[in-house]
Amino acid sequence: MILQLTLTLGTLTTLTTLSQAMALTPRGVPIPTPIPPMLRFQCSQLVLDRLDPLGSPGQIPSPHLHQIVGGNSFNATMDPATHDLPGSSTCTSCTFTEDLSNYWTAVMYFRDWRNGTFTRVAQKPNLGLEGNGGVTVYYIPPHDNTTRVAAFKPGFRMLVGDATASPTNPGQDPKVCHRCMPEDGDLGNLNCAEPDTKTFPTGFCVGGIRSVITFPTCWDGVHLDVPGHRDHVAYPVEGNYDKTPDGGVCPDSHPVKIPQVMLETIWDTTPFNDEALWPEDGSQPFVWSTNDKDGYTQHGDYVFGWKDDSLQRAMDARCFGNVCEGVLATQTVEESVTCTIPQTVVEDVDGWLDRLPGQEDMPM
Ligand SMILES: *[C@@H]1O[C@H](CO)[C@@H](O)[C@H](O)[C@H]1NC(C)=O
Ligand SMILES: *[C@@H]1O[C@H](CO)[C@@H](O)[C@H](O)[C@H]1NC(C)=O
Ligand SMILES: *[C@@H]1O[C@H](CO)[C@@H](O)[C@H](O)[C@H]1NC(C)=O
Repeated sequence: MILQLTLTLGTLTTLTTLSQAMALTPRGVPIPTPIPPMLRFQCSQLVLDRLDPLGSPGQIPSPHLHQIVGGNSFNATMDPATHDLPGSSTCTSCTFTEDLSNYWTAVMYFRDWRNGTFTRVAQKPNLGLEGNGGVTVYYIPPHDNTTRVAAFKPGFRMLVGDATASPTNPGQDPKVCHRCMPEDGDLGNLNCAEPDTKTFPTGFCVGGIRSVITFPTCWDGVHLDVPGHRDHVAYPVEGNYDKTPDGGVCPDSHPVKIPQVMLETIWDTTPFNDEALWPEDGSQPFVWSTNDKDGYTQHGDYVFGWKDDSLQRAMDARCFGNVCEGVLATQTVEESVTCTIPQTVVEDVDGWLDRLPGQEDMPM
């Protein structure tokens, strides 16, 4: 995610906590500043399903396929008035067991240009983490340890990115992008700064493609949700959240600082790094499950579901990584991957598909 963190993660693949890695870069050079506090943990795949309780609540099937992680009470409706995530979930695919939230994103496919069929791109955990595909979830408080950050409240939800975006209407969110990953570590730039792109990368990525989805960090302090699920939150008007110790300046309309929620998925595109598999016209072969070959439509949805005040305590403690000693309970990766639910919309999402789930033919 950010310079210091990503430099250290390059070679430390068996790392269990970030703080173990704090002192060294891949080449053993000490890094000048400590890694800022953040929760960073893996949530494995709960299910791949055509459901979208925010975008199309109650609709079975929803228009496009999602990967969904988190608590197992996820379903098509999730009525905010009645759906108690911590109360009705009996497990979570996240390694922090008090996190019964749900997170979901679009799914990446490869399209074979010769015969037009699609196959799903495998996912791999971020460096230093393990799991069964899924998403790396971050909750990042302001980097200093004096700025107050308000954890979300039951019923809170939000989304970022736009499933209907297109080249002529690329969407309003600056912090949803693709990173063409190097072999090891990271690129060292801020997420969604150059050379990260809103569009799919145009060449082979030796470390796969990381999809980065960063939610806003300022809340209006009033609404748990609003129609459209986005206008109750905003990005800072001044100061980059990741570079400003107090998280920057929130707009007057959205004065309350909330943790920066970020979702990262690494899509293992490396089996397709073969010229014969790429279209002859020079275009790239990856698509989102929204039937999007350009890349603008990746999006992330969030329904808050931490138990009691656990998230607030973890933010106040300014914990690092996937351990928050004495504050949060964890389960092993082996336990977390057993938390799955069956598809509600039973359909093929793997193998070679003539069409993406729920979609029309995609023009070549
Ligand atoms: C979703 O779960 C709630 C209980 O939490 C239940 O009342 C509702 O009927 C479920 N909706 C669907 C579509 O399964
Ligand atoms: C399409 O191409 C893939 C290989 O890229 C192959 O595995 C698959 O069987 C082909 N499907 C058809 C219908 O020819
Ligand atoms: C807060 O940050 C300061 C300066 O970085 C540090 O000296 C202090 O130990 C921190 N306090 C806590 C409770 O982490």
